[in-house]
Amino acid sequence: MGPRMEVILRPTAEAAADLVARIIARELRANPHLVLGLATGRTMEAVYARLVRFHREEGLDFSLCSTFNLDEYVGLPPTDRHSFRHYMNHHLFLQVNIDLRNTHLPDGRAGDLEAECRAYEALIKRFGGIDLQLLGIGRSGHIGFNEPLSALQSRTRVKALSPVTVAQNAPLFGGEDQVPRRAITMGVGTILEARRCLLLATGEEKADLIARAVEGPITAMISATALQLHPRCTVVVDEAAAGRLRCTEYYRWIFENEPEWEPFRPPAGAA
Ligand code: F6R
Repeated sequence: MGPRMEVILRPTAEAAADLVARIIARELRANPHLVLGLATGRTMEAVYARLVRFHREEGLDFSLCSTFNLDEYVGLPPTDRHSFRHYMNHHLFLQVNIDLRNTHLPDGRAGDLEAECRAYEALIKRFGGIDLQLLGIGRSGHIGFNEPLSALQSRTRVKALSPVTVAQNAPLFGGEDQVPRRAITMGVGTILEARRCLLLATGEEKADLIARAVEGPITAMISATALQLHPRCTVVVDEAAAGRLRCTEYYRWIFENEPEWEPFRPPAGAA
């Protein structure tokens, strides 16, 4: 199959997260040395819960894989419960048999942040690049923390969070004044180099952004639109997040009929 972007619609948020977890599990079984790019956020919690279940119930093996997270707040120690390191340990790493030495996040407390960003890029290269990059989409249209006007060729760097993103994360921190104003994030160009991208969005509040990201013009104002340039990007949405897409009948046909999706289709009669 040639380069393509695909949109897969699932009836519920649970079914969408389940499909994403099964895509990851399948790639991991096919290549135990998989280099996985990971994301944090509320949407991903359901994905990690399923991966943990696959590990416990089906023996899904993480022992040889390595991970690179998209981003980390500047200034937060890994022990801070708001840090993405803490999130990852809690939701995934400490619940499966991954070797923590193979799990990587940018160090938001590095003395020289620019050197840290360069080192992160070099480390990804040393591991042979990212095989499968998991992505969410933020209210500002960001992937990672690539806020509006992130250059489409940007690399890992320090990025100031937009007011929309600060507001999105404020409830988690107990107020906008508690949210760190800067983060280290992989760049759009870094993300586009992953061999496969897998974006998950659920809920009505993502519907407008998903329509713009998938069917709208490519713009640095919405970094998720850059995924249209990626040779192998799968976008998984629930019905609520698909609410503003125009070509849904076409997307449904592809999931129901393309042989590649056969292993992921629920048996007839099931949800
Ligand atoms: C987090 C990240 C962000 C989130 C996005 C969606 O590592 O990279 O781009 O994926 O902000 O967050 P939720 O899922 O909380 O809506």
